[in-house]
Amino acid sequence: MSLDAILARIDDDLPAATERLLDLMRIKSISTDPAFRDDCQQAADWLVADLQSLGIDAQKRPTPGHPMVVGHAGPENGKPHLLFYGHYDVQPVDPLALWDRDPFDPAIEQTPAGPVIRGRGAADDKGQLMTFIEALRAWKEVEGNWPCRITFFFEGEEESGSPSLVPFMEENKDELRADFAMICDTVMFESRTPAITTMLRGLLGEELTITGPTKDLHSGMFGGIAMNPVRVLARVIAALHDDQGRVTVPGFYDGVPELSDELEAQWQGLAFDHEAFLGDVGLSHPAGEQDRTPLEMIWSRPTCEVNGIGGGYQGDGFKTVLPAQASAKISFRLVGDQDPHAIRKNFRAMVEEMLPPDCTATWKAHGASRASGTPTSDPAFAKSLKALSDEWNVPAAYIGSGGSIPIAGHFQNILGTAPVLIGFSKDDDQIHSPNEKYDMESFHKGIRSWARILDAIT
Ligand code: BES
Ligand code: ZN
Repeated sequence: MSLDAILARIDDDLPAATERLLDLMRIKSISTDPAFRDDCQQAADWLVADLQSLGIDAQKRPTPGHPMVVGHAGPENGKPHLLFYGHYDVQPVDPLALWDRDPFDPAIEQTPAGPVIRGRGAADDKGQLMTFIEALRAWKEVEGNWPCRITFFFEGEEESGSPSLVPFMEENKDELRADFAMICDTVMFESRTPAITTMLRGLLGEELTITGPTKDLHSGMFGGIAMNPVRVLARVIAALHDDQGRVTVPGFYDGVPELSDELEAQWQGLAFDHEAFLGDVGLSHPAGEQDRTPLEMIWSRPTCEVNGIGGGYQGDGFKTVLPAQASAKISFRLVGDQDPHAIRKNFRAMVEEMLPPDCTATWKAHGASRASGTPTSDPAFAKSLKALSDEWNVPAAYIGSGGSIPIAGHFQNILGTAPVLIGFSKDDDQIHSPNEKYDMESFHKGIRSWARILDAIT
């Protein structure tokens, strides 16, 4: 087998590969918004057709939500069986006014730092998902067959909490079991160093609505005598952190481990430049627990953040209203053995305790996943790290991640399959934000990286 020939094929095919990615990005597969249900079906159909064009036995598989795409290829040849996961759904595009182009009319833009693929889903996760397919396309074209047995598993609900995922994995355990699950949905370290992510935080979402009066009131007629739910909500939110940045929910730090000496030494070696990281987004001061390092704040410490808040008049101008309700969407990132269900219970009890007379709280749960970690003792990890280093000409690193990919934990728990998290997205890709992009370098070298990894581990 000739890795050089496969890499050359990838280089030659880059323009066509880019066109294929742009085609997939034109599909508005926003999973959280029911208005885009048909678009999600269409994105799944697109992937099935693309896999089938490679001779892969691929199918769209229904779920109560958006469909899964599952495909099987390659021989049972004594080499490891790989499962590859990516998600074809994307985040909503709002606020649309802040985009410099139509988010679903993607294009290659030239920037001072090089060409980028601009549009919703470029980096999260359509561009990343296609890096693996393109590597295999080149492999098949050059070699005439597959390096090993490969299962493709694409999801369309990742950005909306993966409600159908666990039941689907439980029902299709035998079909999905593999030696390794390769997940392409993570970032490189500081946008320069290729990396394998070995720690992901868990995620707990809570939506809280506080209700006071039965209806909106005139704030002159009732102001002073009537309890205002916005005031109550503000008090609750202000009480969630102490002045050292610690989260105050009772029992919150149960199960939060201290860093091992080994990890601490490894992370010190990474010499994270937090000033540059924050400087890129107009900030300068790490705002988490004040006795923790910046890397700990994003990788190994749990957090509580308000993701949205509402109540009262928010239109143009001014309205003297005392609103009947106020609400907030609050998320917790979890680490170690923190138990999302215990935290949900304690958080709700803490808030209920703070409510003054006449106010009630109602709750909506939005997902609860534990943190996950991957041991790196299997030789496939060291081989993948070396393949990444060869492609990018810098030593690759093991890193943590602030984000959450609940499926990583499920692969381990349900299938017994170790997840290997490798991605080529960069910190400035603006995922979930306006003007999302994926560097052409990420796409091109990402495809080449997978070819090298496949060569190294099969
Ligand atoms: N690709 C991200 C996860 C990610 C972000 C990994 C940054 C590494 C660095 C993924 O699509 C995502 O955004 N996940 C959500 C969780 C989901 C349950 C909504 C997240 O982390 O907020
Ligand atoms: Zn993603």
